[in-house]
Amino acid sequence: MKKKALFLSACLLIVFFLWYGCAPPQPQQFPTGEIAADEYDPEVWGKVYPLHYESWLATKEPKPAGTSKYKRGWDDDLIVYDKLSEFPFLGLLYNGWGFGIEYNEPRGHYYAVTDQLEIDPSRVSPGGVCLGCKTPFHRQMSETHGLDGYLKKPFREAVAMLPEKLQELGPACIDCHNPDPWELTTKKAHLENGLLAIAKQDPSRQELRMLACAQCHVTYTVPRDQQMKVAGDITLPWRNGKWGDISIEGIIEDLLSDYSRLEWTQKVTGFKMPFIRHPEFELFSKGSVHFNAGVACADCHMPYTRKGSYKISDHDVTSPLKADLRACAQCHTQSKEWLTERIHHTQDRTASLILRAGYATATCAKLFETLHAAQQDGAAVAPELYEAAKDNYMQAFLRVVFINAENSTGFHNPAEAGRVLGDAIAFAGRSEGLLRQLLAGAGLDPGLEVALELGKYLNGRGEAGLDFVPDQEFHDPFDNQPHFLSDAAKGL
Ligand code: HEC
Ligand code: HEC
Ligand code: HEC
Ligand code: HEC
Repeated sequence: MKKKALFLSACLLIVFFLWYGCAPPQPQQFPTGEIAADEYDPEVWGKVYPLHYESWLATKEPKPAGTSKYKRGWDDDLIVYDKLSEFPFLGLLYNGWGFGIEYNEPRGHYYAVTDQLEIDPSRVSPGGVCLGCKTPFHRQMSETHGLDGYLKKPFREAVAMLPEKLQELGPACIDCHNPDPWELTTKKAHLENGLLAIAKQDPSRQELRMLACAQCHVTYTVPRDQQMKVAGDITLPWRNGKWGDISIEGIIEDLLSDYSRLEWTQKVTGFKMPFIRHPEFELFSKGSVHFNAGVACADCHMPYTRKGSYKISDHDVTSPLKADLRACAQCHTQSKEWLTERIHHTQDRTASLILRAGYATATCAKLFETLHAAQQDGAAVAPELYEAAKDNYMQAFLRVVFINAENSTGFHNPAEAGRVLGDAIAFAGRSEGLLRQLLAGAGLDPGLEVALELGKYLNGRGEAGLDFVPDQEFHDPFDNQPHFLSDAAKGL
């Protein structure tokens, strides 16, 4: 008996030594070094944190093509994907300003400012204010030079005011880090004001792993005066929100509350309009399963990764699908195929509803066009019906923009995305009914289908004369959309 016990413990000892002797050494944390508090240049940070610098610089590289179904931004096929060709109704709805001329899928952080210099100049016509969620110098520049000296300066002149070496620098170490980079922080003034508006104080470390991204991946407006000229720095329409509850209803109420939110005039309807940009933080934090479970943006977009003998947060921020879903495996035991299928399950449904809501809203825009022409010819229009049609239209339009501008095609919050699009379809349906009633009153019958004439809006756009690219268009994965609108009526 004693012999047996001795033998067993000897075996255990051997196993113990084999295990620890042969296992790879545990990865270590990267050592901390000295960085000056006002150091903007990532190359200087890179002298102390070479692995992080190299990983951050990798956002410059194209990602493997064919790995993401809906976010084919900057992949190694080097094709630029045009959102207006992917969702052609956007060409009609955004006609009247820069977004209706050139609107591309995002690419890596490295190109944030470069892409602004390369895109059709109409997109940066407001001036220096457009650098708000791009250059790390924005806060210092707007505080030093103000409205006339910087925010309203023609875009290229504003860029030329930045230190020469760092003019095209986008999201930089200093945006997210204190000199000790184990402490995350945020630097953007607009986010500081936004957090004040929702009374959010003292964010935890896990919340900062979200807010570092919310410095830019939030919606904002460029405030205007009554002549629609730029009147200040970007602001977040969050005044009706709370932490974990910045709803589309609250955002729309804020956006429609005063003229300073009206940034452009929609050509087809002649309406002055607000706009919504990349609301990743707002959609995600509105009670998504992951937000409620305490998961942050960085968990999925900056997973821990092994570099040599160190474990670092991956700074090559991109779509998790383009990074082999390594991030998900930190928490999920399911296979890559299962996770990919779950992402597509949500995205296919969202894309289908985006098409339904987008075309229904575009149909209303064309009916307003016909109605306004009839009014010009003297047709009488009942004002309360007209106001109701317009109000329902605005409600539909802003919901369509919200989910379309959000970059996860529903994944960040599947149920909320479905809810918002369902409401958009209902608001557009109500508006169309009222518009048809008004047109009938004026003796006009728009017919079974309203011709959208999309080719007119999508071809020959801007300085480069951009055209619709048919093979980039997203079609309804469930094939229901053709029941609502024929190809002939689309007019492409
Ligand atoms: C200073 C502003 C800023 C900050 C901070 C920022 N982003 Fe971005 N992000 C951008 C811009 C601008 C783009 C689009 C760049 C382009 O298309 O040229 C972008 C693009 C992306 C993309 C698409 C990349 C691709 O390969 O297509 C992802 C994913 C992303 N950001 C996630 C994040 C996450 C996660 C965080 C926080 C860890 C974050 N971003 C912080 C501004 C920012
Ligand atoms: C649970 C994981 C998860 C979390 C948390 C998460 N994302 Fe994502 N994100 C994804 C997935 C999956 C996609 C879809 C990628 C695709 O379709 O290629 C995506 C897409 C994106 C994109 C578009 C990527 C591209 O290539 O164009 C951006 C930008 C983005 N997320 C930013 C954020 C921000 C900001 C947060 C926090 C507010 C966040 N994400 C939180 C998983 C996550
Ligand atoms: C968009 C925001 C963002 C930018 C830009 C950024 N980081 Fe980070 N960084 C993070 C996040 C998020 C973490 C994870 C921190 C945590 O969990 O506390 C991190 C972690 C780190 C760490 C701690 C160790 C680790 O790997 O988790 C170091 C060091 C670091 N970053 C260096 C850099 C350097 C150097 C640059 C510029 C070349 C940079 N970062 C740019 C967001 C950013
Ligand atoms: C930091 C941990 C963490 C990461 C990283 C993470 N998840 Fe999750 N995920 C969770 C938790 C927690 C839940 C809640 C359900 C549960 O307890 O299993 C969840 C739920 C889900 C669900 C079910 C959602 C629902 O609506 O019921 C899916 C699908 C999912 N995750 C996919 C992903 C994908 C894809 C990624 C990578 C892009 C990812 N997750 C990354 C922790 C994580």
